[in-house]
Amino acid sequence: MSASESSATTFVDRVQNFVSENKQAILIGTAAAAIAVGGVAYYASTSSRGSTSSKTDLEKGEKKDRKSKKKKKGVSDADGPILEERKPKVEDDEDDLSKYTAEVVAALPQEERSRIAGIFKAQGNDAYKIRDYTKAAQLYSRAIETSPKAEPVFYSNRAACYMNMVPPQYELVVQDCDEAIKLDINYVKALNRRASALESLERYPEALRDFTATTVLEKFTNQATPLAVERVLKTMSTQNAQEILKSRGPKLPPATFISAYFAAFRPRDLPVLPENPSEGDNTLIESFKALEEHDYKHSLDLVNDALEKGISWDLGKSEALNLRGTFKFLIGDVEGAKDDLNESIQLVPSFTQSLVKIASVYMEQGQAEKAFECFEEAIKHNPEDPDIYYHRGQVLFIMNKFEDAAENYTKSTELDDGFVFSHIQLAVAQYKAGNLANAMAQFRRTMKSFPQRSEPLNYYGELLLDQQRYQDAIEKFDKAIEIEKLKYVTPQNVLPLVNKGLTLFQMDQNIGAAERCCNEALRIDPECEAAVATLAQLSLQQGLVDKAVKFFEKSAELARTEQELAGALTYQYATNAQVEFAKNYPQLASQMNAMARSF
Ligand SMILES: *[C@@H]1O[C@H](CO)[C@@H](O)[C@H](O)[C@H]1NC(C)=O
Ligand SMILES: *[C@@H]1O[C@H](CO)[C@@H](O)[C@H](O)[C@H]1NC(C)=O
Repeated sequence: MSASESSATTFVDRVQNFVSENKQAILIGTAAAAIAVGGVAYYASTSSRGSTSSKTDLEKGEKKDRKSKKKKKGVSDADGPILEERKPKVEDDEDDLSKYTAEVVAALPQEERSRIAGIFKAQGNDAYKIRDYTKAAQLYSRAIETSPKAEPVFYSNRAACYMNMVPPQYELVVQDCDEAIKLDINYVKALNRRASALESLERYPEALRDFTATTVLEKFTNQATPLAVERVLKTMSTQNAQEILKSRGPKLPPATFISAYFAAFRPRDLPVLPENPSEGDNTLIESFKALEEHDYKHSLDLVNDALEKGISWDLGKSEALNLRGTFKFLIGDVEGAKDDLNESIQLVPSFTQSLVKIASVYMEQGQAEKAFECFEEAIKHNPEDPDIYYHRGQVLFIMNKFEDAAENYTKSTELDDGFVFSHIQLAVAQYKAGNLANAMAQFRRTMKSFPQRSEPLNYYGELLLDQQRYQDAIEKFDKAIEIEKLKYVTPQNVLPLVNKGLTLFQMDQNIGAAERCCNEALRIDPECEAAVATLAQLSLQQGLVDKAVKFFEKSAELARTEQELAGALTYQYATNAQVEFAKNYPQLASQMNAMARSF
């Protein structure tokens, strides 16, 4: 298909499905990005979204693992018949071309020059077919010199030769494609070729720009291009995530995240100090007090200090190592976390929480087997620890083993029924297993047993949302929001607010109301990742790409692990590429925005 033809006849086709395809591209690129906590695209794309749990960290780890197992495709410019005919076939390519020197050509009339250029090109094609790329490139050069008017195909074909030379001449490929694309901005083959060359030159942002344009111009008909988009995005995001993390240094995640992680374990009493406590012993107690007040930074400094000064009794030291290990895990120092937690369990083998936490480190790394070993080991030391079963339930839940998960939550509740999450997760597991009636009954019981907790209401609301019972869902979220408002301790849980926003959006596409909910959530908790991710998606939905980019940047700031950061960056870069596409193809962009608004 010629480029001019494609620009003329398929222009409307091309934009027709842009919005949905555009979304598809983003999902392809980032199947496991920040929206895992709840986001519009994610909602819109899946009908059977179950409730999230307070332990989304595990969930994310698993998803990432699944994704990272995907095969990467190597970079290669298919050297098959990549040449294209744009003119009627030249009849007399038997002409002796040697007589057409530059001077001779210059004196000829235009029509004659066009004809001769066509012959040079045809001969170039022949040379190309027998893989004599050097000769083919020379012939295309002659075609370029001879032709009275610049023809994009001559440049694009010569670029194909440079691409196939050994070694490939990527810089020259880029130069020739620049020319070809200058002449015809819709020239897909040249765009694709330049993208591959740029990728090989590790000029990733430009490669992404070109692959994105190609994908849209091809209307997603060529499977290889979205894969190339994904590949380049992944390389860029991973590299940049590593650099950012290196330069950023260790940093605690948002307070909401830390609270959620600590809340996934049953609360314990402070360790009892020995008769004559050392200075380190006292510092440890202060660290725990700071932790109770959600002053995480201070708690971390104090526990470091306590361990440095020395802790005089084993249980205290084991607790201190557990706490420091937990902070290391939260900061993203996986190995350090494992060492501390392991040392903690060696000191006091019955303090099985440390083993359960090692399991969650393994889960975040996607090593489910190792996690199960930790649970087995923990059960050996302390079979009555309810946290073991709750967390094993979480792992099973992530692996879609809902029946086993439900059994483990039940066991956890039998050992201690005061922990709200094992009740909630049981209901969620029942729901995921297809047991709607049981799940709803379980939620109702839980709401009754924990009337002052917002979580049962919030997760029940999510179930109702999934059932498209919007008004009922909103009622639950509103109650949950009321409960959270009455809390004096920070941070408040703003998830019900974000969920209410999502419901309003799902119910009647009320973007304004959805945004107001998310903004309110951010006012209360400026670090709420779910609100940021949702606002980003809502902006995309409206075609407000610049605004979306700002939220993706914020999302990257809040990211904790390399994978999370890479996920946020992937969105940011994908969106930037679209902004650039809109700049280069304004006609296409204005239509695409108009469609997004009416969507
Ligand atoms: C914990 O440390 C011991 C030795 O001190 C080692 O044998 C064991 O494999 C470690 N366990 C984990 C889970 O790292
Ligand atoms: C919990 O899950 C395990 C699988 O890891 C399963 O063998 C066990 O029967 C489940 N139930 C209880 C009560 O532990």
